[in-house]
Amino acid sequence: MNSRILPACLGFFLLTISTVLSAQQVIELRSPGGNNKLKVELTSSGGVSYSLDCNNKKVILPSGLGFVFSSPAVTLNRFRLVKFDSAYSDNTWKPVWGEQASIRNQYKELFIQLKDISEKGYLLSIRFRLFNDGLGFRYEFPTQRNLQYFIIKNEITEFALSWDHKAFWRPGDFDAQEYTYTTSPLSQVDSWKFWQVSSGGRDQNVPDQYAVQTPLMMKSADGLYINIHEAALVDYPAMLLHVDVDAHVLTSNLVPDPMGNKAYLRTAAKTPWRTIVVSEKATDILASKMILNLNEPSVIPNTNWIKPMKFVGIWWLMQTGKGSWNYTDYPDSADAKGNKIPNGRHAATTANVKKYIDFAAKHKIGGVLVEGWNTGWEAWYGNWYGRHFDFVTPYPDFNVVELMNYAKQKGVQIIMHNETSADAAGYDQQMDTAYEFMNRFGYHAVKTGYVGQIIPRGEHHDGQWMVNHYIRAAAKAAKHHVMIDMHEPVRPTGLHRTYPNFIASEAARGNEFNAFAEGSPPDHETILPFTRLMGGPMDYTPGIFKLQGYAANDPNRQMHSTLAKQLALYITMYSPLQMAADLPENYDKYPDAFRFIEMVPVDWDDSRILEAEPGDYITIARQEKGKENWYLGAVTDENSRMVDVALDFLKPGVSYEATVYRDGDQADWKTKPESYKIEKIMVNSTSRLKVKLAPGGGLAVSIIRK
Ligand code: NOJ
Ligand code: CA
Repeated sequence: MNSRILPACLGFFLLTISTVLSAQQVIELRSPGGNNKLKVELTSSGGVSYSLDCNNKKVILPSGLGFVFSSPAVTLNRFRLVKFDSAYSDNTWKPVWGEQASIRNQYKELFIQLKDISEKGYLLSIRFRLFNDGLGFRYEFPTQRNLQYFIIKNEITEFALSWDHKAFWRPGDFDAQEYTYTTSPLSQVDSWKFWQVSSGGRDQNVPDQYAVQTPLMMKSADGLYINIHEAALVDYPAMLLHVDVDAHVLTSNLVPDPMGNKAYLRTAAKTPWRTIVVSEKATDILASKMILNLNEPSVIPNTNWIKPMKFVGIWWLMQTGKGSWNYTDYPDSADAKGNKIPNGRHAATTANVKKYIDFAAKHKIGGVLVEGWNTGWEAWYGNWYGRHFDFVTPYPDFNVVELMNYAKQKGVQIIMHNETSADAAGYDQQMDTAYEFMNRFGYHAVKTGYVGQIIPRGEHHDGQWMVNHYIRAAAKAAKHHVMIDMHEPVRPTGLHRTYPNFIASEAARGNEFNAFAEGSPPDHETILPFTRLMGGPMDYTPGIFKLQGYAANDPNRQMHSTLAKQLALYITMYSPLQMAADLPENYDKYPDAFRFIEMVPVDWDDSRILEAEPGDYITIARQEKGKENWYLGAVTDENSRMVDVALDFLKPGVSYEATVYRDGDQADWKTKPESYKIEKIMVNSTSRLKVKLAPGGGLAVSIIRK
C-alpha cells in the first residue's frame, strides 16, 4: 500500500482475509456520499470479481473481469493481488460549452494491481472510480518486461444483473446506429428482429442475435435506473453487450477488425472506462456528468474560436426528395461536346445558398450548412469503389468565392460538408487539403459523413481503426480551428471534453428518418437522452414545422410529433450545434412559433432535469449562458400528459415574462400536428406551470427576466 495515501485508505477500505478454508480477499469502497458501494473480491482460485450496490439495492452482482489475448495466446482470468491503492478527488472544472457552467468531479478511487497466475505472470491493473452517480472502471496494462505488443481477442467484463430488467435497447450492430429502440425485458432481446437500416452493412454486422449497443438503459423492478456505457473510447473498439437472456448477465462484446481481432495494443496501454450510472431517480441519470468526468481535460490550448451555434441548411430539400445532392443524373450525363447535363434538381446552387444566407441573416441564425456542393455525388451511395469525393472541387453552379464574400457580408457562416461515403482511408489522405480549403474560404465548421461500408475494407464503423480515425479527424480539424460534427461515427463517449471542437455527432436515428423513411415512434425522443445522448450531444436536426405531406416520394408520410414538440427538442435534446431543419418557406408560415427557434440559446449556465421517465416523458429547464433567462422544454410519448412543475429555479423576488408555446387544445401528432397556441404570462419563483401536452406533443417556454 502506498504510504502517502495510507490515512485515506484506512477510512475507505475494509480488507478481509478469510482463513477458514482458503484465502479470499475482499476490498470495499463507498462513494463520497455513501450511497454506492463497490466490492472487489479475489477468490482463493484467483478469480477476480466486482459488485455494486446503490442504497443497499443490487446494481451489479459479483461479475467477472479479464481478457483473452490471441497473441500471445493467453487467458487472463486468474490472478494474485500484487498491491492496491486508494485516492479521493474533488474538483470542479469549466467546460468550453455545455449544459452547465461548471462541473463537479468528486469520486473515490481504488486501484488494484494483479499478476496473472498462468506461467506468464503478466501484470494487469484495474482502476475503479466510484461516484455518487455511479461507477467507472478501466483496465491498464503497465509496462512490463515480457509483454510489449499484444492482441485482444476478447474482453471478458461482465455486468451480472439482479433480475430481468426492463431495457431500452437497439441491436448490437458493428456499423449502424440508426435504429429505433425496443423496450422489453432483457430476456426478450433479439437483435435479429431488425433489418440493418443504413450505413451499408448487412446481417454480418449483427452476428450476435443477443447483442445490444450501449448506452443501454434499464429499469429494475425495485426502482433503480441503470445505464451502462463507456467513457473515453480511444485506441480501442466500441463495446457491445452480449445479453445472456436466461441469466441476465451482460458480457462485453468488442467490435472486431477484418481478421476477427478486437484491439492491437502496446504497453503501457489502457482500455476505455466501463461506466454504470445508477440512481433511484430517472432525473439523476440525465443530470449525471460522470462520463464527462472520466474523460481527459481539453487538449486544445486556445478554445476561444469554438462557438456553439444554430444553423439552417440546404438539406431537408434532399432528404424529402425535392432536390438532389448530385448535379447530373448519372456520372456520365454529358452532351456531345462533353459538357455535363444538369438534372435541374441540384439544390446547392449559388442562388439557393444565397437565399438561405438571407434567411439566416434575417433571423440571426449563425450558419448555413450546404450539402451537395462538391463533385462526386452521382455515385456516392453504395460506395463500392470509394475515392469519388475530393472535398475541394465544387459543382459548376456553386461559386465558392462569391458565396464566401456574400456570407461574410451578411455575417453568416457557411458550414462545410464532407461526405466520405465511408472511404475513411481516402479521407485520411485528404484531410489536410480539405481543412486548408476550409481555412482559405472561411469555413469554421464541417459536417462529415460515413454512409456505406468502411474502406479499409472489412473494417467497421465502431472498430478500433475507425475509433482512431474519428479522433484523427477531430484533432486535425482542431489544428485548423474547425469545429466538427460527425454523422455515422461510433456513438460518443464524452470525448468532447478532450476535443471541445468535436461539437456534435449523429450516431443514432435522427429526425431525418421521418423524411426518407418511416421515421421513429413518438417515444423515441424520450429514450434518446437516456441512451445515445449519455455520451454526448446529438445533431438530431429538430424544428420541422410542416409535419405532413412534405415528402416528394410519399404523400402519406408524416412526423411523429406536434409542432410544439419540435420546439421542445431544442431543450430536451441538448446540443451546442442545433439545426433549424425545415425549409425557410415553412418557417415563414409560422413566424410566431419560429420566434422560439430564433431566441433559444445553444449554450447554458445551468440545467435542471425537472421530470423524466425513459420511454414516457422528459421536462428540462436551462439557464441561458451569462443571462438570467430560462428556457423550458417538455416532451411526451404517444400519450397526452399534464406537465405540472414548480418554477422554483427562478431567482426569488424577480419577475419574468414567460412565453408558452404549447399544443393546441385539439392537437394530436396523428391528426392535428400543426395546431399550437402561444400565451404570455408573468411568472416568478413561486409560480407553477401547468400545461397539457397532446399525444406525441410537447411544450416550449422562454422565461425572460424583466
Ligand atoms: C446521412 C446524414 O445523416 C445526412 O444528414 C446527410 O445529409 C447524408 N448522409 C448525406 O451525407
Ligand atoms: Ca445518418
